Amino acid sequence: MNKQIKSKILLVGCGKMGSALLSGWLDQKIGGPNICVIEPQKSNLDTFLSHGVTLYNKLDDLELHYEPDLVLFAVKPQMMDEIIPAYKCFSGKSAFISIAAGKSITYFETKLGKHNAIIRAMPNTPAAVRRGITVACGNISVRKQVQETCIALLTAVGEVRWLDDENLIDAVTAISGSGPAYVFLLTETMLLAGMEAGLDRKLATELAVKTVAGSGEVLRQSSENISILRENVTSPGGTTEAALSVLMGKNGMQKLISKAVNKAIKRSKALDG
Ligand SMILES: NC(=O)c1ccc[n+]([C@@H]2O[C@H](COP(=O)([O-])OP(=O)(O)OC[C@H]3O[C@@H](n4cnc5c(N)ncnc54)[C@H](OP(=O)(O)O)[C@@H]3O)[C@@H](O)[C@H]2O)c1
Repeated sequence: MNKQIKSKILLVGCGKMGSALLSGWLDQKIGGPNICVIEPQKSNLDTFLSHGVTLYNKLDDLELHYEPDLVLFAVKPQMMDEIIPAYKCFSGKSAFISIAAGKSITYFETKLGKHNAIIRAMPNTPAAVRRGITVACGNISVRKQVQETCIALLTAVGEVRWLDDENLIDAVTAISGSGPAYVFLLTETMLLAGMEAGLDRKLATELAVKTVAGSGEVLRQSSENISILRENVTSPGGTTEAALSVLMGKNGMQKLISKAVNKAIKRSKALDG
């Protein structure tokens, strides 16, 4: 058992992010028997049972008088209005963490009561391989111990940064929350361009995937400025420079990514309320 975490945790929603978190906790020996999960599609979660985790289809199935220290919401933001009112039964007893995109701390304070400790966190899917990055922030009711527990839980799947300014979470969502999709899209576009240039799908896929993964590892290990890493691949008058003249042109990647990020920020704000 992880000494840091003795809290009783109720995980609500065990889809992609919920199961990534849960498996990270179990890997870190963060108390299986202290974890209850509510997930309607629990047929594919049997592997967690051997760690002592208890799975339920719905909140009503929980034992009478069960009181978690922490309730972590990992359901879609669009589901939140429907599911949240029932969790008011833990108001004043539990701290609440939400990883839902767009849903603000005020949203949860309104639904659950302002006096509750509420943490809003934004992880990302590399959490599934313990290489996520999560940014979190909390309301004034979050005491040090709850904050530390929350950070320890999120650290089980990668790195954690704490923000004092919740307004920045929409930007975080647009960069690191949605970011893995941008990188996967880049990989897809590279492989398709490779095929257009005559490579077969298998080789084009291998080249695109290994290039993106290898470059990611270089980024992770290097302390060099990112622009220098790029310049190191770019000989004057060479092939990379020719390609970058397009990607870094007037309507190139910077403009496109900024536009995409702004659209994600707008969507994040629109999901609130
Ligand atoms: N995926 C990402 O990249 C990412 C990144 C950062 C944050 N997030 C946030 O993480 C949250 C979960 O996203 P996800 O990608 O993990 O979605 P997901 O795979 O759809 O997982 C949500 C799970 O919640 C279950 N669920 C539905 N109603 C429920 C209820 N009443 N009680 C308990 N569980 C219920 C769903 O079951 P059914 O399938 O049967 O509906 C599903 O298994 C979202 O709020 C999202 O904004 C996601």
